[in-house]
Amino acid sequence: MTDSSKSPDAIASQLAHDGALVTDHLADYFDAMTSPATQLVEAMRYACLNGGKRIRAALCLSAARLAAPDDKQAFEGALMAASALEMIHAYSLIHDDLPAMDDAETRRGKPSVHIAFDEATAILAGDALQTEAFCLLSAPSSVLPSDRALRLVHELSVGSSASGMAGGQMLDLMAEALATSGKGFGVAETEQMQAMKTGALIVASPVMGAIAAGASDKLVSDLRAFATPLGIAFQVADDVLDVTADTTKMGKPVGRDKDQGKASFVDFYGLEGAKTYAHDLVQQSCDALAGYGAGANTLQMIAKFVINRSY
Ligand code: IPE
Ligand code: IPE
Ligand code: MG
Ligand code: MG
Ligand code: MG
Repeated sequence: MTDSSKSPDAIASQLAHDGALVTDHLADYFDAMTSPATQLVEAMRYACLNGGKRIRAALCLSAARLAAPDDKQAFEGALMAASALEMIHAYSLIHDDLPAMDDAETRRGKPSVHIAFDEATAILAGDALQTEAFCLLSAPSSVLPSDRALRLVHELSVGSSASGMAGGQMLDLMAEALATSGKGFGVAETEQMQAMKTGALIVASPVMGAIAAGASDKLVSDLRAFATPLGIAFQVADDVLDVTADTTKMGKPVGRDKDQGKASFVDFYGLEGAKTYAHDLVQQSCDALAGYGAGANTLQMIAKFVINRSY
């Protein structure tokens, strides 16, 4: 794995810094919304501004810094992309927690949206966050030229599509249903599901940051190669934490994947095997950016954080 000069503490503060930037951007965005459906906007705010590690935002902003260091306008465009990504992610979490899906009563240490509000509001908040993300990206903007905006809309829609997050969530539920008959997913089907439900938006994150910053096709393609194994590793780490972490630290219910019949690499490889698998995937990720030297350190350290995190 490529060496990095950044310590874990430095990465934690980088995540906090980028997280605060995107949180402020989102807060300003919600403040400017004029919908008379105030309960809906309140639920959208609640889902987006209630914490979260902001890893997708950090991947997006770090890729923009690699593509166009010191270009303030490019960075502003990437901040819009990061906010749109976090809106889609928040929507996916609202719907993931619904009784019809994972039936989880807490998220980020607080009541899930359907508990804090009600189920109908939660469904609509997810719907509206999804469209708002595309509204944000497609609005006329002085920092995001329309050709870049169109590419961002495309990347984000592919990432959240039937071939991406939404499709992966469907496969997750299918695996759960199949598990009751003892014919659950095998390794290949599970990996495909992970790559879709979680991986697709993780891939979109640095790719969108790079596009917003006007990166070369080569850098965009190298970032895709970086984020593809990372996306799978992200879900493997989440599945490991479902077994090893505690609910308070995670801010969401843990220990339920097995009971719910979720397809997980922990079942196939055991805890240590799943950790090794995630480690190998992250090594592949870091190697994909080896040619960029110190400029890629932050992205590589975020990748390592993804599998070494405790929450
Ligand atoms: C949780 O994602 C859902 C998965 C895709 C595994 P995160 O672990 O990034 O959640 P937040 O945004 O930090 O709450
Ligand atoms: C969810 O996976 C992935 C999403 C697309 C939201 P999980 O169901 O394992 O995520 P958590 O554990 O509830 O955050
Ligand atoms: Mg789920
Ligand atoms: Mg869940
Ligand atoms: Mg999980």
